[in-house]
Amino acid sequence: MARYLITSALPYINGIKHLGNLAGSMLPADVHARFRRMQGHEVLFICATDEHGTPAELAAAEAGQDVKTYCDEQHLIQKRAGEGFRLSFDWFGRSSNPPNHRLTQHFGEVLEKNGLIEERVSKQIYSIDDKRFLPDRYVEGTCPVCAFERARGDQCDNCGSLLDPIDLKNPRSKISGSTNVEPRDTAHLFLLQPKMQERVRAWIDRATDWPHLARSIAYKWLDEGLIDRSITRDLSWGVKVTKDGKPRKGFENKVYYVWFDAPIEYIGATVEWAEATGGDWERWWRTDKGAEDVTYVEFMGKDNVAFHTVSFPVTIMGSGEPWKLVDRLKAFNWVTWYGGKFSTSEKRGIFMDQALELLPSDLWRWYLMANAPETADAPFTLEHFQQTVNADLANVFGNFVNRITRFAAARFESKAPEGGEPGELEEKLGIELRERIAALTAHHEAMEFRKAAAETRALWAMGNEYLQVAAPWTAIKTDAQAAAVGVRTGLNLCAAFAILATPFIPDAAGAVLDALGIPKGNRNWPKADDRGLLDAIPRGHAFTPPDVLFKKVEDEQVAEWSVRFGGG
Ligand code: 2FM
Ligand code: ZN
Repeated sequence: MARYLITSALPYINGIKHLGNLAGSMLPADVHARFRRMQGHEVLFICATDEHGTPAELAAAEAGQDVKTYCDEQHLIQKRAGEGFRLSFDWFGRSSNPPNHRLTQHFGEVLEKNGLIEERVSKQIYSIDDKRFLPDRYVEGTCPVCAFERARGDQCDNCGSLLDPIDLKNPRSKISGSTNVEPRDTAHLFLLQPKMQERVRAWIDRATDWPHLARSIAYKWLDEGLIDRSITRDLSWGVKVTKDGKPRKGFENKVYYVWFDAPIEYIGATVEWAEATGGDWERWWRTDKGAEDVTYVEFMGKDNVAFHTVSFPVTIMGSGEPWKLVDRLKAFNWVTWYGGKFSTSEKRGIFMDQALELLPSDLWRWYLMANAPETADAPFTLEHFQQTVNADLANVFGNFVNRITRFAAARFESKAPEGGEPGELEEKLGIELRERIAALTAHHEAMEFRKAAAETRALWAMGNEYLQVAAPWTAIKTDAQAAAVGVRTGLNLCAAFAILATPFIPDAAGAVLDALGIPKGNRNWPKADDRGLLDAIPRGHAFTPPDVLFKKVEDEQVAEWSVRFGGG
């Protein structure tokens, strides 16, 4: 038994996430966590809402709420959506909770003692009417590149140029709209990343078993050269800046930058978990306290990779303390909505809460993982979704389970038949089953989700082919023993298929296993060399056929949703 610490990138607090966000971090992390647990490993699966930063403050203002109330509400909404999707977090924390504040302040202070943080004065836009410095996104003005009049301080949405608010023409405050603003000197803390450049590179050099995308992005940043990065902002909601445990002079109206504190919340959320459950967080995070034999796996979208391969490791390594570093990092491209962007304001795309109102979570889970954006961006279309879930889940898996359990109920009194002995056909089936389980296990271990889903589907297809040939419904007319073997083998396949599909479709798989009366303790991930898989259900064992597992997605539904969510 090994130990796996698994984290998903922390969803921003401002608004419920869409299917693309889900597919790029939380869902694959859940599939992997479930797989590792089923293998018998000890797993700690951690996530949280990422609650600081300008977007949170702006969203709260737009909702007419104070930031704390807004975050309290949104956290619960996201927590519930996660539960609806059966995301099996051991803890879903909040970056605004005290453990993250304590840890972030600790790292800030230690890094400064180690010479990796420096206080520097620079020019920043000050709003005289608002009586405050404006963080980048609180400044609007005319783009110096394309003359677009509503460019944000950090970036122009019209031409895409990255900007410095100081360079905007006719700058104004986004808070009050006031143009009574001017550049003034102010101090910020800078993280001196170049000092750690070679150590970070040496560490990535050793990470030879990382999936390709993450490593290539890390090298891109290292090759461009790391830069000193400002890690404080002029905001009130966030982690206060301290020195020797006391408020830092000159930083009374500043907090740490959200990207400095957010990854620290992976640790913070583990502390929250420990405080709530009596668990031992240091055993997962401190290599001097047992974490040296933890395998730490991170999941995230490609835009997060630099922060997790450079900035956060600089924080961790730069502390000089024995913290656990990520061992394997799995990154994803984007799921797009018909090739374009999901958008809350333009009501384009399906968001997590909406998806749960439309269909059971397993259908979304299956589709998103079978088409995981691993090698390139992957467009979500309702038509492809309908085609995929109807074909794979309803026609192949659902139909297999339905046919064999109904026939066994009708002709064998809802019991696993006792008679007959497996023959050549079952021998061959067993060999293929074991080969496919070996392949499927390898894909899950490599976190290759598309391949794992394809292999799961291939297993189901193999089952249907077997039934086609064994044809117990025909055999029963002439050879009761042969029919018994076919049905018993079919029931065992149902159980094996359900177990193997659990990481992807936990609800449907659980329903099949419950109906078959497979005890919870017998639902572990099978060993690829297990020769007893086709005879695991005791002969004479009683069961009840499950209800229809998957209702087909109808053309009318696709048409309606296409209008409602702005499909193709
Ligand atoms: O990109 C995002 O959605 C960020 N909220 C991810 C943060 S991951 C971690 F560092 F906290
Ligand atoms: Zn522009």
